Amino acid sequence: MSGRHLAKEQPDSFAFSKAGEKQAKYWIAKYPAGKERSAVIPLLWIAQKDNGGWLSEPAMRVVAERLDMAPIRVLEVATFYTMFKLEPVGEHLIQVCGTTPCMLRGSEKLIKVCKKRLGEKNTVSADGKFTWEEVECLGACVNAPMVQISNASGDHYYEDLDEASMEKLLDDLAAGHEVKPGPQNDRHTSEPLGGAQTLSDKSLYNGTRAKPLKSIPNAPKAVKKTAKKAAPKKGAKK
Ligand code: FES
Repeated sequence: MSGRHLAKEQPDSFAFSKAGEKQAKYWIAKYPAGKERSAVIPLLWIAQKDNGGWLSEPAMRVVAERLDMAPIRVLEVATFYTMFKLEPVGEHLIQVCGTTPCMLRGSEKLIKVCKKRLGEKNTVSADGKFTWEEVECLGACVNAPMVQISNASGDHYYEDLDEASMEKLLDDLAAGHEVKPGPQNDRHTSEPLGGAQTLSDKSLYNGTRAKPLKSIPNAPKAVKKTAKKAAPKKGAKK
């Protein structure tokens, strides 16, 4: 986890970008009048994106003013959630999942690569391009080990990594090449390597296996409509 304290060096001011301003208005409008502060997390997120990936003190003040909140309340939120970075980060923020499934599949090797190539975690690399950190499960365990990379193109997952593919990812990012999110071993989403191996028989989907039903399963049993014979009246002729 990164240090939860404000950066020593702070910019003088912060302003939302045009796009950020539009998004901020969108989020604030989601809440009833008087409850606008409920938009504090999305506004901090937008401010972080507009501020090069971290939250400066002036950015938090702007969010506080916009939501009519005490700045300390905004600071409390920003320091609680580790997705908010309180110090400058590199152009690419690399979050390496180190939780058990990823650890069992080799996340420690990815961490080794990051350390070797980028230096200590939570620092900005010498070229200003990278910051890396270890995080808890990012919910893509089926494609472990994986990292999330946040940069100007968004926040994307890179999965099924090993030392070689991690090195290549860093090379490509450093060279400004486009990198394709998702599995890095030619696997399609979370299918088995080599493609789907179950439910692949076409006859399962083209209707040739359909057979007419003789009865509807679990339907109530039909009630037999047998008319009761009326009992003969006493004295009636047979
Ligand atoms: S343990 Fe790494 S994504 Fe879940």
